[in-house]
Amino acid sequence: MPLVLPFISLRVRFMVVAVLLTASFTSLWEIWSWNRERDLLHERLLQKGEILVSAMAIPIINALLYEELGIISEGGLLDNFIADIMANQQLNPLYAMVLDGEGRVLAHNRFSEYGKIYSDPLTRSALASAGFLDRVLTFEDQRACDLAVPLAIAGKRWGCLRVGVSMEPLYRELALLAGQIILFAGIFSLGALCVFYLVGRGLSGPLTTLARRMEQVNENALPELPPSGRRDEIGLLQTSFSRMLERLRRSEVEREASVQRMLENERLTTVGKIVSGVAHEVNNPLAGIQGALYHIEQKGGAPVQRYVRLVEQSVERIGRIVGQLLDLSRAGAMEMETVHSREFFQDLALFAKMAMKDRGCRFEAKDLCPPTGVRLDRDKIHQVVLNLILNGADAAGAAGRVELQAHDDGRWYCLTVADNGPGIPPELLDRLFETFFTTKEPGKGSGMGLAISRTIAEAHGGSLEFRPGGEGGAVFTLKLPLESAHD
Ligand SMILES: Nc1ncnc2c1ncn2[C@@H]1O[C@H](COP(=O)(O)OP(=O)(O)OP(=O)(O)O)[C@@H](O)[C@H]1O
Ligand SMILES: [Mg+2]
Repeated sequence: MPLVLPFISLRVRFMVVAVLLTASFTSLWEIWSWNRERDLLHERLLQKGEILVSAMAIPIINALLYEELGIISEGGLLDNFIADIMANQQLNPLYAMVLDGEGRVLAHNRFSEYGKIYSDPLTRSALASAGFLDRVLTFEDQRACDLAVPLAIAGKRWGCLRVGVSMEPLYRELALLAGQIILFAGIFSLGALCVFYLVGRGLSGPLTTLARRMEQVNENALPELPPSGRRDEIGLLQTSFSRMLERLRRSEVEREASVQRMLENERLTTVGKIVSGVAHEVNNPLAGIQGALYHIEQKGGAPVQRYVRLVEQSVERIGRIVGQLLDLSRAGAMEMETVHSREFFQDLALFAKMAMKDRGCRFEAKDLCPPTGVRLDRDKIHQVVLNLILNGADAAGAAGRVELQAHDDGRWYCLTVADNGPGIPPELLDRLFETFFTTKEPGKGSGMGLAISRTIAEAHGGSLEFRPGGEGGAVFTLKLPLESAHD
């Protein structure tokens, strides 16, 4: 079974690591500071002690020397010196004693010790030492420091002076210091904890919000993310996520459009199949009717000829519609050739001008496309453009204007037909390219022009798009792939 680790938020991890690090560094710093302070205090105590015992050793040696020389009798001199030492305010000695070479007490702050001979290791090493000596010991349950100097001059030795100094004040000072250090470290750690908490929240908060927003993403809901304004990795993550949502949104729109197009194509294919069958069947009887009408017209009188002409007009309309239906069903069968854009446009403009001759409205053709090669089915593109300019002319009316223009947008060869008619109401836009959608009077339009045109454009690998004109009117753009796309 795979091991499932519990969810531990980044904020908690960050805080744990940060607190552990702070605690370790603070503890190390506390220990280091305390040890340093202890060494300093100890050193200061020793310095003071050395100054005291060294200073007091001189008169004691003098007293012992003079006594030995018989100049003075020692009397109470040594006791006075011991009393002076014991009265030292700075060191507050616990004991002070003068020992002779054998360790016999010559003077002591306690009279009961007079005459005793000390032979403990401490005394022996003090008697044997050549200079100042200090050792830590316990005296009457107190931590103390034993300071000793030899009483010697020019190779002659009388014994030693030993003074015991209590180390309790030093440790009391250290305990006070330790308290202060702990207090400071506590305040510092608490402050650091608050800072780490805020930093952790600042880091994890936006990530949690982002994760919640990501949770909301599904094919029906692509939430908008407000710009983060952060200039760091979290900001980058939010920007990337917003861009990803934008891409998803675009692809969703494209997907919906292509589903719609697929449905429409399917409908067109079905309609095309039915239509081409029906059209074939209708074409033959139509030809028969036309032949029969010719004969009736020849033989009948004037009233018959009038009726026959009416029937002929209707038959012609039926024939035109049947022809368009066949066009729709054959829209996919292409006869592609590579044409030179300039020559093709000249032909197209001429063809369009002729088609517009009887319409009365103004027609302009502009070729803004640099000479290039385009692969297309010449007749089918003529058919598309013809439908677009006739639609434009219908919409603009006799006093209107229709403009045909060619340009190159780097990837596509674009043919644009623009008019200054009333344009297309937004509510009709969804149905514009539907088969049989027309707003024209019955008999004027079959509603197949744009459906056939779009099918032809897509069969070329291009597209037919509509956009409203700048000053009203409609603009249709037929895009065909350029032979060599460029920037
Ligand atoms: N330039 C335009 N300005 C305004 N409306 C337009 C324009 N072009 C097309 N339309 C609208 O789109 C409808 C469909 O056009 P489409 O060319 O498919 O069919 P039609 O022109 O009505 O008939 P057909 O082209 O089959 O004779 C038109 O009836 C018209 O309402
Ligand atoms: Mg039309």
